[in-house]
Amino acid sequence: MTTSTSHLPGRIARFPFPFPADHYRYSTNVEPARRPVSTAAGQWGKHVIDIDDSYRRELALREEILAADPSRCAQLPHMRAATWDAMLTVMHELAAARPESMSLRSTPDGGRVWTNRMLGIEQHFTPGDEGSLPTGPLRYIGSQVQEDLVLLDQREDRLFLDAGLVTFAADWSLSFDIGMNFLEVHGPVPRIHENGVINRAHQFLMRLQPGEAYRRTNWTMTVDRRLDTSTETYPLWGRDRRLVVEGDADEMAERLHLRVEVQHLIRLAESGAVLFLIRSYLLPLTDLARVPAWRSRFAAVLAELPQDMAEYKGIDRFRDQAAAWLRAAG
Ligand code: HEM
Repeated sequence: MTTSTSHLPGRIARFPFPFPADHYRYSTNVEPARRPVSTAAGQWGKHVIDIDDSYRRELALREEILAADPSRCAQLPHMRAATWDAMLTVMHELAAARPESMSLRSTPDGGRVWTNRMLGIEQHFTPGDEGSLPTGPLRYIGSQVQEDLVLLDQREDRLFLDAGLVTFAADWSLSFDIGMNFLEVHGPVPRIHENGVINRAHQFLMRLQPGEAYRRTNWTMTVDRRLDTSTETYPLWGRDRRLVVEGDADEMAERLHLRVEVQHLIRLAESGAVLFLIRSYLLPLTDLARVPAWRSRFAAVLAELPQDMAEYKGIDRFRDQAAAWLRAAG
């Protein structure tokens, strides 16, 4: 079938639709970063960092969340070098994605000048000197990207989640997880321990070479355009998962969003830490249904998804109605 997609707005054309088949299971789904992916609606994935029309709005939201709850940015003391490494790496990736507005230049005295014209920033600093930045490096760069940032330290043949700035978590908590090892972080996820997925992912990540960048996608569903669905704010959004089916079906379809995370995994060259970037995209079912191939595929995935996975994702109360609406929208 050929469908003209030229009329679609950017939020649909650039959406990283994640399903290669009509059924979904967990897998160690990693692939090299920076390779554009064509979808039925357009394309995504050319750069590690993605800036879109929501840039300023999402950064403002991040500032609000951090002001209300500073625990969303945390680091263990031994992660200082890794946070500098992460900041410089993200600056290079920002400059690669938006060369017309972002740059990182070296100065003869060993300093750097960071320019972000989208936010009107020109910052002179000296790598490693905390006093040369207005905030710590993780907090500094976290206020200029839409991605959540997590840093993993590798020691004793394991990876540990030892730093992060996470304001848009999909039903988990940075302050609960900080200091845990990779397998503990994934403790609550069904199936992946028994089937070896998470052990393979762990081994893969520990073998990443300096500078290597990979990516994967993950998905769930969220009621309303709510990026902050962390454990801390559960009382604000948890009950909507139950209530959303009580309204009329079209209203439900406007409120239910497919939430896709594009996750990048980068071995930092200086510190040896692994940088884990999580970018969350939300698309309402009403938009998704404008792409016929996505509409039928997501309906099939939702209908077939095993109950334990649906429960873990928190979508078990509405996924059948969502699948039925998608089928009827055809
Ligand atoms: C190849 C690498 C990875 C694989 C295959 C993987 C796999 C998964 C899977 C299957 C889930 C469940 C998702 C869902 O059903 O919605 C999950 C959740 C999660 N992952 Fe990963 N993951 C990877 C890398 C990472 C990294 C590097 C971190 C950072 C420490 C991380 C942190 C998390 C967290 C915090 C959750 C939520 C757990 C909870 O519910 O408490 N993942 N991961």
